[in-house]
Amino acid sequence: MLMEKSIPQTALVPDSDYIIFGGTGDLALRKIFPALFWRFCDGQLTDKVRLIAVARNSLPLDTFLDKLRPFCEDAFSTYDMDESLWADFARLITIMPIDIMSGKGGTELAAFIAEKKDDARPAIYYLAVAPALFGSACQLLSELDLVWPQSRLVVEKPLGHDYVSAEQINSQLKSVFSEDQIYRIDHYLGKETVQNLMALRFANVIFESQWNNNSIDHVQISVAETVGVGDRAAYYDKAGALRDMVQNHILQLVCLVAMEPPSHFTADQVRDEKLRVLQALRPLTKEDIVTGQYQDYEHELDGSSQTETYVALRMGIENWRWAGVPFYIRTGKKLSLRASEIVITFKPKPHDIFKKAGAPAGEDDLPNRLVIRLQPQEGLKLQLISKAPGPGGMRLFPSELNLSFNDTFSARLPDAYERLLMDTARGNQTLFMRHDEVLAAWAFIDPVISLASELAPSLYRQGTFGPADHFGGEDGSIWIDPSEDPGQ
Ligand code: BG6
Repeated sequence: MLMEKSIPQTALVPDSDYIIFGGTGDLALRKIFPALFWRFCDGQLTDKVRLIAVARNSLPLDTFLDKLRPFCEDAFSTYDMDESLWADFARLITIMPIDIMSGKGGTELAAFIAEKKDDARPAIYYLAVAPALFGSACQLLSELDLVWPQSRLVVEKPLGHDYVSAEQINSQLKSVFSEDQIYRIDHYLGKETVQNLMALRFANVIFESQWNNNSIDHVQISVAETVGVGDRAAYYDKAGALRDMVQNHILQLVCLVAMEPPSHFTADQVRDEKLRVLQALRPLTKEDIVTGQYQDYEHELDGSSQTETYVALRMGIENWRWAGVPFYIRTGKKLSLRASEIVITFKPKPHDIFKKAGAPAGEDDLPNRLVIRLQPQEGLKLQLISKAPGPGGMRLFPSELNLSFNDTFSARLPDAYERLLMDTARGNQTLFMRHDEVLAAWAFIDPVISLASELAPSLYRQGTFGPADHFGGEDGSIWIDPSEDPGQ
């Protein structure tokens, strides 16, 4: 029986200014401000922090707070809090109208920041705006003299739509900020279980000796969503699942599963090892790619489209550790359930001492599997074969060692943005992507996108696990579908 544990206390982060461009937009409302609110409620942010929502058009603070509050409702119900905490948080927020293109309003921002400027206080510029504005925003900050060693820049995907455009974005950012000031968010790296993957691999000895092509048969990564593209159709139809999910989130997961142990848990050492994985990815052929589109997608889009809302890839990593081990990945929208899992399937046992001659294959032939459940109901499961209790013959059955994070930890698991926003104030880049990682991911995915564009996506019914594929050959499907309740 596992002991219930409380989540360790969080340490205060340096008092900072968070300047959020696009500060009244969707990302700010849904993710950035609620994450800051949670951190404030937990006492990790003090009342010396300033939160500046930069928006093209001015908005009364009360109107903004009314819009924001529903997105913070979870914190209200968890803390059963009194209204004064919300009022205290609201006092930290200032709304500033600025036109990034013309620079109008910029001097007011500069004056506001100057009031508290000191060499130790981080100024964190979060560009929650379209990437087309990144260059102008950086130039404006430079012209306003708002870039000094404690300034940090936070950006988020889409960081380009291919290698060339990603390089252009990089050079715009780097013309003003140095690499150690740039925080490129991939929110998957902020998820608790994704970080736990590193703990599992590098804080335990039992897996490392098995973590290679001698023992592992194949790896599967499934990121299944029930949502469709909804009101993001204009963006999504130009992106598709390969750009939207694979180039970033899923390749990052592949890196964390496959990377060599860094010698220290430091930003550059972790990112060096991830980069080596990206550089070792085997170029794919058409046979390694399956695309799909959910029925009715075109109807939602109101136009015809060949964009994939589902993709499955058979990948490989060309190095000694992973040669010959397929990495199957898949992701799709409007699938039957929301669940993300990494499944490591170990090789079959070399010889079975329990099998009677001529007996058919049964459940006791199942291989050992390690299932890392990323969301929801985060946890780890190790599938083993055990003896069925009882005085009868030696009967075997598949059983599981099950570590459910919900059952083990009494407190909620924080949202990815909470961790990432605190890391920007702490100056810790370990969970952010370096420019060369982003480019290496595009270098791999560009040819895949080009091959995929020659395949018509197969239509799949909503509420299924996507279209059929040929990866299992005559043996049928290779996929291990996540379950609604991973504890079962
Ligand atoms: C985003 C994608 O980056 O990640 C979305 O643009 C996707 O299309 C989302 O739905 C998934 O994130 P999560 O945290 O819900 O798994």
